Amino acid sequence: MTEPLPIRLTVNGAPVRRFVEPRLSLADFLRQDLGLTGTHLGCEMGACGACLVRLDGRAVHACLTLAVQADGGTVETVEGLTEAGTLADLQAAFHARNALQCGYCTPGMLVAAQDYLAQDGAPSREAIRDALSGNYCRCTGYEAIVDAIAEVARARRAGRQA
Ligand code: FES
Ligand code: FES
Repeated sequence: MTEPLPIRLTVNGAPVRRFVEPRLSLADFLRQDLGLTGTHLGCEMGACGACLVRLDGRAVHACLTLAVQADGGTVETVEGLTEAGTLADLQAAFHARNALQCGYCTPGMLVAAQDYLAQDGAPSREAIRDALSGNYCRCTGYEAIVDAIAEVARARRAGRQA
C-alpha cells in the first residue's frame, strides 16, 4: 500500500498542509479535502474544462493534475478568484447576458476567460471561441458566453486606456 505524502501549498491565499494519497487528483483534493466544490468535475479526462483552476498563475485541468504536483504551489479556485473580485466583471457580464443556464460549465468558463483575457487584451469573437474550445457547455450554445467575454474585453481595454 502506498503511504500518504505530505504537501504544503497555498489555496486562495491561505496556507494548507495535508497528507494525501499519491494518486489523489487536485480536483478531488480541492472538492473533498477542502470543500471547494466550485471546481466542477465532468469528463475527468481533460476534455470539458469544468475543472479549470489556476496553479501558479496558469489555468490547469485539476482533474489531470495530482494534488502532489501542486506541492509548494499556489492554487486559485473560482471561490478565491470571486472573493478577490478578479472575476467580478466577467460574472456580471455572464449574468446580464444569460451566459449560463445550469451553471455546471461556468466556473471553468470563467477561469478560462480570465486566463485568456490576461494574455490577449483585444480578442476577436473567433479568438474567444478558439480560446474556449476546451470548455464544453451543453446549455447555452456559446453565443452569449462569447458576447459576455467580448464585452468584458472591450471594457477592460477602455479602462486601461482611460
Ligand atoms: S473534468 Fe477536467 S477537463 Fe473535464
Ligand atoms: S450552462 Fe449548463 S453546461 Fe453550460
